[in-house]
Amino acid sequence: MSETILRVANVSKRFGGLQALSDVGIEIKRGQVYGLIGPNGAGKTTFFNVLTGLYTPDSGSFELAGKPYTPSAVHEVAKAGIARTFQNIRLFAEMTALENVMVGRHVRTHSGLIGAMLRTPGFKREEAEIAQRAHELLNYVGIGKFADYKSRTLSYGDQRRLEIARALATDPQLIALDEPAAGMNATEKVLLRELIDQIRKDNRTILLIEHDVKLVMGLCDRVTVLDYGKQLSTGSPAEVQRDPKVIEAYLGTGGG
Ligand SMILES: Nc1ncnc2c1ncn2[C@@H]1O[C@H](COP(=O)(O)OP(=O)(O)O)[C@@H](O)[C@H]1O
Ligand SMILES: [Mg+2]
Repeated sequence: MSETILRVANVSKRFGGLQALSDVGIEIKRGQVYGLIGPNGAGKTTFFNVLTGLYTPDSGSFELAGKPYTPSAVHEVAKAGIARTFQNIRLFAEMTALENVMVGRHVRTHSGLIGAMLRTPGFKREEAEIAQRAHELLNYVGIGKFADYKSRTLSYGDQRRLEIARALATDPQLIALDEPAAGMNATEKVLLRELIDQIRKDNRTILLIEHDVKLVMGLCDRVTVLDYGKQLSTGSPAEVQRDPKVIEAYLGTGGG
């Protein structure tokens, strides 16, 4: 039995009259690709936002690698070992691909603001290392040739991969991907699938929100289905796929 990397219990989040998450609990083992699926508005992104400290949950407890974890400020979440991408891409449009990845890496550096201002030798060395690592990550996700392009000039699919590179720059144990295949064509999806496989092989755990059922079923070890904020079903892709509750929810809302 492999180690539990993330345990989330009883997470609830309400927005006014809307119960966006209702007692959701999941357990992810190290090295898994864990799928979070469900119709639009099911609460998937809200779950990510709670997990990464963007929203404060009304209830819930979290454990990361066996230790209590309280989602808080962005850099604290990164230090704890969690990184994410966004459903609505959040890159610095006017910065180059390389710079976008370097920004991600800075949460892990040591010389800090004073070192940066004084441009101490330690800072310059660290900056060179960060650039080197950022180049490696761009190559890793397959967009090395665009290192010096402003991120807004990249195709949609490449921007999504750049977001993954930036997330990986924090050297996360757990990487949470919010609809990474959205807007990608069939070829890009194949590449994305290979990339996610590679990330897993490189000893990271992946939490994946995805609409493409084929991608989810092919990639995930375990899946949780949300519907109106409630946890409808959890199991292997095969188990979840034949769960009558899941079938009904998907048919009832026209899929998604
Ligand atoms: N900041 C917010 N304020 C109010 N309602 C929100 C907010 N964020 C999400 N919601 C609502 O919560 C529900 C779940 O949204 P979301 O988590 O984005 O769903 P999903 O990612 O599964 O499509 C939706 O009804 C959405 O409108
Ligand atoms: Mg969403």
